[in-house]
Amino acid sequence: MDILEAVKSRRSIRKYKSQPVEDVKIRTMVESARLAPSGSNTQPWNFIIVRADETKKQIAAICKQEWMLQAPVFIVCVADIRTRLRKQEHIVLSEASPQFELKQIIRDTAIAIEHLVLQAESIGLSTCWVAYFVQEDIRPILNIPPDKYVVAVVTVGYADESPSAKPRRSLEDIIHFETWGKKEAP
Ligand SMILES: Cc1cc2nc3c(=O)[nH]c(=O)nc-3n(C[C@H](O)[C@H](O)[C@H](O)COP(=O)(O)O)c2cc1C
Repeated sequence: MDILEAVKSRRSIRKYKSQPVEDVKIRTMVESARLAPSGSNTQPWNFIIVRADETKKQIAAICKQEWMLQAPVFIVCVADIRTRLRKQEHIVLSEASPQFELKQIIRDTAIAIEHLVLQAESIGLSTCWVAYFVQEDIRPILNIPPDKYVVAVVTVGYADESPSAKPRRSLEDIIHFETWGKKEAP
């Protein structure tokens, strides 16, 4: 499957078959994430593979999204600010944290997450990004230290629905030439 084909066929899937997901496929997804680009090659990403029902229940509860429980696997995507901040000061990250580096590690981890998601699509799996949670709720469930930041939970499984494509802004709307607002190519 070429990249544009995977991009076009991917949907956020919220209904999954009970069919288990092969470990080798999860590893292929993480391998694709591993190779993502990042600022100064800092690679702030970490991925926690969650299959345990009790852990999934706790995560779905704090995300307030029961549908997640149908997915056989959750991948919890965690950014590590220590890849940019070497000082050993005590840090507790939250949605309101002022650190400039937090923006950088979220940006870079998001790139890797989309690699993971598109890789899943190309090997017949479906996913959904979930980011409706707060750090102080999700971290304790997985024993994640306070200086790490959970960017998203990705649900993974075999789709049991085929939703149509959601609308997107047109190419003409988003493209500019040479300077902001110039809508015609020179
Ligand atoms: C950062 C991010 C967070 C998201 N959080 C959720 C979520 O908490 N629950 C959910 O059902 N979908 C979530 N989504 C999925 C979006 O709703 C979905 O990508 C969007 O509606 C476009 O639909 P599509 O992915 O099928 O093209 C999230 C997507 C992104 C990129």
